[in-house]
Amino acid sequence: MAKVTKAVIPAAGLGTRFLPATKAMPKEMLPVVDKPAIQYVVEEAVDAGLHDVLMITGRNKNALENHFDRATEIEASLQKKGDTDRLEKVNYSTELADMHYVRQGDPKGLGHAVLRAKMHVGEAPFAVLLGDDIIDARDVLLKRMLQVQAERNATVVALLEVDPDQIHMYGAAAVETTDEDDVVRVTGLVEKPNKDVAPSNLAIIGRYVLRPEVFEILEHTKPGKGGEIQLTDALEEMAGDVEGTGGVYGVIFRGRRYDTGDRLDYIKAIVQLAVDREDLGVGLRPWLREFAAGLESNTPSGDVD
Ligand code: UTP
Repeated sequence: MAKVTKAVIPAAGLGTRFLPATKAMPKEMLPVVDKPAIQYVVEEAVDAGLHDVLMITGRNKNALENHFDRATEIEASLQKKGDTDRLEKVNYSTELADMHYVRQGDPKGLGHAVLRAKMHVGEAPFAVLLGDDIIDARDVLLKRMLQVQAERNATVVALLEVDPDQIHMYGAAAVETTDEDDVVRVTGLVEKPNKDVAPSNLAIIGRYVLRPEVFEILEHTKPGKGGEIQLTDALEEMAGDVEGTGGVYGVIFRGRRYDTGDRLDYIKAIVQLAVDREDLGVGLRPWLREFAAGLESNTPSGDVD
């Protein structure tokens, strides 16, 4: 069995929930504290040992490529000023991974975006990390998924327990327990089901380790929910263990995850990550307490410095 060495990051969506901010800029470039969301995702792939990163991009996505390329003008200016701290930060994203890019053309859905990786990936299993989904670096997910993939030679998805009222926003999994507390066998998947027909409140989140057979399945997957080619529909087929592809397993994630494509979650991500930062937490924490106290006592928010 081939080892996973490649990460695919779909980042070609239109980001309509974030308009007008995403009119001319990809949502994956929105800053989360002082790094664009996409950098956290690439860092996570590299941290899990996946240095070969293929990004699926589209129109208006040049900023993504530029972010992982050299910025000679900025570098020269920082060098001249002797600002080595910032220079290091600028160079860090350039040297982070072996970056590759392919365009999706029309954004016909996540399944269609993943299919664009076929030529680059070849015959080995590979990881998919959604470009707008951040997993807190202090919590382990992808490494555990790679471990489960290696042990079971199957396709692995990440599952998060959500409020049943929220399940209509995700793919939902029907599952069976296994001999491992954090691993389930996925027996079925439904994309964005209504609460009353959802097979569980276990939602698929934006990390996958896929066997390459997924490409053949995606090639014949018909547009599903929203008229888009859904990765969930292809995985539903694989869950039935088509032609001995090993089936689908789920790793239940109990850590912190931020969907930066959603405005409220995006704001929460910035606050949660900034309060724990050495350079910003000291200033932010007391301000936040005062601000929250003001909300409790109905003080207009403008009264807090
Ligand atoms: P989303 O559904 O969250 O992205 O897709 P979106 O379509 O950009 O968002 P809204 O709903 O319009 O605001 C999840 C991930 O899949 C990628 C997105 O870039 C995001 O990282 N994606 C989605 C593609 O690469 N191509 C697509 O056709 C659709």
